Amino acid sequence: MAKTKTQYVCQECGRTSPKVLGRCPQCDAWDSMVEEIVEDEKTALSRVNTHGMGSLSVPKRLSEIEGEGEDRIPVPINEFSRVLGGGVVPGSIVLIGGDPGIGKSTLMLQMTMQMAAGSKVLYVSGEESARQIKMRAIRLLPGAEKKAHALPEELYLVTETNLDAIMGHVRAINPRLLVIDSIQTVYRPEMESSAGSISQVRESASRLRELAKDSGIAVFVIGHVTKQGTIAGPRVLEHIVDTVLYLEGDQFQAYRLLRSVKNRFGATSEVGVFEMQERGMIQVPNPSEAFLAERMVNAPGSAIAVTMEGTRPLLVEIQGLTSFTNFGNPRRTPNGIDFNRLLLITAVLSRRLNLRLSDQDVFVNVVGGLRLDEPAADLAVAAAITSSMRDRPIRADMALVGELGLSGELRMVGQINARLREAASLGFRQAVVPRRLQRKEPWPGGIEIYEARSLNDALKLALIE
Ligand code: TYD
Ligand code: MG
Repeated sequence: MAKTKTQYVCQECGRTSPKVLGRCPQCDAWDSMVEEIVEDEKTALSRVNTHGMGSLSVPKRLSEIEGEGEDRIPVPINEFSRVLGGGVVPGSIVLIGGDPGIGKSTLMLQMTMQMAAGSKVLYVSGEESARQIKMRAIRLLPGAEKKAHALPEELYLVTETNLDAIMGHVRAINPRLLVIDSIQTVYRPEMESSAGSISQVRESASRLRELAKDSGIAVFVIGHVTKQGTIAGPRVLEHIVDTVLYLEGDQFQAYRLLRSVKNRFGATSEVGVFEMQERGMIQVPNPSEAFLAERMVNAPGSAIAVTMEGTRPLLVEIQGLTSFTNFGNPRRTPNGIDFNRLLLITAVLSRRLNLRLSDQDVFVNVVGGLRLDEPAADLAVAAAITSSMRDRPIRADMALVGELGLSGELRMVGQINARLREAASLGFRQAVVPRRLQRKEPWPGGIEIYEARSLNDALKLALIE
């Protein structure tokens, strides 16, 4: 086999160099040189010849292309399946991203253990030893059968980081499903850069994608997100893979959200909810109920918002607390909502409702470790703060939905009826929503709807005298 050559390419301007340079001589960008594999025309062509049908690719009529709808491999874990868009597509490559320790390996091991009942699965780990993984697998077995003999027959494990060796194992075992844990540990030996570097991550992922497309094996790739948020890996991977799922959650909370941010085979922003327990990731089929479980009814500073996670409405409790600032500037401390959104809401409360927050510290917490990025929760946040400040509780059976405008007006949010139906199904009897300008469909039944034009009107309805 001809020796593969690599070169360094500036990611800003495309200048190439045989050696890595700290600063690009063409565009002066720093640290922009990334190692890439050079493939000469001849090897590229011969690869096409062997993988293709004896010639270069041939255009076909759309109607002549085989396969209507994909045959998906069903995933027994419902919440996982829903995020994938209803099962695993053969030949696809899926990235599972998330913070270290959030539960990616646990979730993948659980999934592969269940999938291995029907087909061969190869789990490649570069992070843990085979023994460690086996111990974890036994721990994840259901209560009664915590014995090694209950482990699935068709689940193969290997600790390997050399991508060539991994490809060898794949050929030997020929699995239906391949898991790479994690992409940061694999490397292509022909490249100089160390494992985990952008070049290695990108080239390895490209090779895995080719493997998936050529062989029809479904490949799952785990990727760590680094602390700084500049993702050495997952971000450069996002356009290589077919589907990107992120596992999110608060390290100190049990709930984990599996969110799809890109999906070539299904809807994005679909969400699966899990709880990390002793026996691994347990599905939470009814998350609203779980998020409201510990709620103290009739306590000041607690409001219920209805947020959409993908197509799924979720009821969450929002807590607000105001307390006198003893010295210095008053603090604004959000947990689960955006800092600037909180500043905006407190500013509207000060200016439009004459709420005296200038000498108050304000804390806002979204219960359950959820992160809300939606302005639809504005009203509930404002109500929780006002409720704490005035020491008056919000009606216990009332849900609050609405985006706040700078003049203190309430603005309509999307999918309002889906939200209200979820609130009604969880036993909420009343809801305050923004006033509708056009009446398209009637309000859902089983819940009394109050339309409010402004924050002021809404709070009059929500707070108990
Ligand atoms: P892990 O799946 O190793 O995280 P990642 O692969 O994303 O880095 O999960 C590690 C954490 O999960 C660890 O802190 C222990 C916890 N955990 C449980 O709480 N219950 C369990 O059953 C398992 C296997 C792990
Ligand atoms: Mg792991």
